[in-house]
Amino acid sequence: MGRNGYFITLEGGDGSGKTTVLGRVAAYLQNHSMPYLITREPGGIEIAEKIRSIILDPSHTAMDARTEALLYAAARSQHLAEVVEPALAEGLTVLCDRFVDSSLVYQGYARGLGIDEVWGINRFATGGRMPDLTFYLDIEPEVGLARIAANQGREVNRLDMEGLAFHQKVREGYLRIVESDPKRIVVLDAGRPIHLVEEDIVRTLKERILKDF
Ligand code: TMP
Repeated sequence: MGRNGYFITLEGGDGSGKTTVLGRVAAYLQNHSMPYLITREPGGIEIAEKIRSIILDPSHTAMDARTEALLYAAARSQHLAEVVEPALAEGLTVLCDRFVDSSLVYQGYARGLGIDEVWGINRFATGGRMPDLTFYLDIEPEVGLARIAANQGREVNRLDMEGLAFHQKVREGYLRIVESDPKRIVVLDAGRPIHLVEEDIVRTLKERILKDF
């Protein structure tokens, strides 16, 4: 592999099991002595955490869609600068739960701001840094939302209050993004038991990344 580590992101609708799968993939990399960093925006970075708390505050019902998109891009920029870029430069594999694709899909497509417009502000925020590999966990929105409802431990945020139609748009948006970048994005059927999703991810990692170690 080159000097920089691999940048891998996980994407999916709400309740697609991303976070669980991410933990399993991390365990796999650990077992293979592959140095890695697991993170998610805002990643414990103080500035980015503060930005995110403004976005997710249930009382902020007046938040304009452009404001939301800009705040996500701002938090992303800070997390990238403080966490992701330094780790990649050290040669760590970085596994990130959600990245630019989430904004393209949620803000650009589902909220109707336009995928190209949202890509514009994110290109500025990220300096054009894109993942080397992205796993998209595809799930029927009904199944994803039922999983969230069954998960008592998770806090309900402003975005969970969206209706089914919004989540269907999110899925549609992801499928469009996948079409536009099929080499980078690997689609996984996340409606299956989690161990099968994990097996697919491990197989892809072996083919695409671990061969370099
Ligand atoms: P999470 O459930 O994966 O923590 O994500 C929180 C919510 O934030 C989820 O509904 C997706 C949304 N989101 C966006 O709308 N745009 C973004 O850029 C990101 C990163 C998340």
